[in-house]
Amino acid sequence: MLEVTDLMYTYGRGDGAHMVLDGISLQVARGELVAIVGPSGCGKSTLLRCIAGLQRPARGTITVNGTVVHEVPEGLAVVFQDYSRSLYPWLSVRDNVALPLHRSQPRRAVRRETALRALAAVGLSDTAHHYPWQLSGGMQQRAAIARALACDPVLLLMDEPFGSVDAQTREDLEDLVLGLRRDRGITILLVTHDIDESVYTGDRVVVLTGAPGHIRADLAVQLPEPRDQITTRELPAFVHLRAEVGRLVRGRAGHGRPITSPQHLVTGTGQTSGTPRAFLDSAAQNSEDRC
Ligand SMILES: Nc1ncnc2c1ncn2[C@@H]1O[C@H](COP(=O)(O)OP(=O)(O)O)[C@@H](O)[C@H]1O
Ligand SMILES: [Mg+2]
Repeated sequence: MLEVTDLMYTYGRGDGAHMVLDGISLQVARGELVAIVGPSGCGKSTLLRCIAGLQRPARGTITVNGTVVHEVPEGLAVVFQDYSRSLYPWLSVRDNVALPLHRSQPRRAVRRETALRALAAVGLSDTAHHYPWQLSGGMQQRAAIARALACDPVLLLMDEPFGSVDAQTREDLEDLVLGLRRDRGITILLVTHDIDESVYTGDRVVVLTGAPGHIRADLAVQLPEPRDQITTRELPAFVHLRAEVGRLVRGRAGHGRPITSPQHLVTGTGQTSGTPRAFLDSAAQNSEDRC
């Protein structure tokens, strides 16, 4: 579904050029949820913007459904962290959600109906006629997710989407996204700075470190489905993996122990992508601090 090959991205040119990403290769299968974690400034948002066709890499290719990305790919939607700036305050919640449909759907009644269905999917039917500023932060972020769903995306990019809400709301939104993925089979890339969230939501956790940003580890998460905020998080496999991801993000790779060693929670099956589903780069295996 998504294939990123040897991506390099540089801000600026000449002497002032700043290489932010280098050698990023990543394959994501249809319906997979890949969580991306990494220290602030390592290039997570830049990677998402390249995949969204909003920024052009200096080297490498990105394909979505076999088509090379030169502009915003068909069937792609993005949800950003800052819901307060992504919803228009002068439009009702329904009209905010219907907005992106203007390009593809000329009939207002159909746009509104589609928007109402998307709002129902995120549990916001009752607020369709409210304005965004009348909603709580969590509800506004639900509305932003509904707007992404209204376009019936096949690929959803989420950039720290729950960073601005309280802990309880965050958990509710994580479960909402997992439910939507289950029901609709959407492929999701979820950037987060929350290590627990990456393990809780992900089929895989990709650890990005910099600089320049590169993939330090790509770990398969094998936790029972459906996940549950209480029981999943108390599983030994969850606790172990979050510790490993934490070490990797902080530049301490399991005290030099390769994470691909036989374990029940990390595998290297490569079933869908043809590449190992779990690896550590050589620097990580040497436990060098590169953050
Ligand atoms: N528009 C820009 N111009 C120049 N440098 C930028 C720009 N946007 C981001 N950067 C730099 O690129 C690096 C990666 O940024 P970003 O992708 O936002 O990281 P992350 O999302 O992981 O925090 C940072 O050093 C940041 O300062
Ligand atoms: Mg960012």
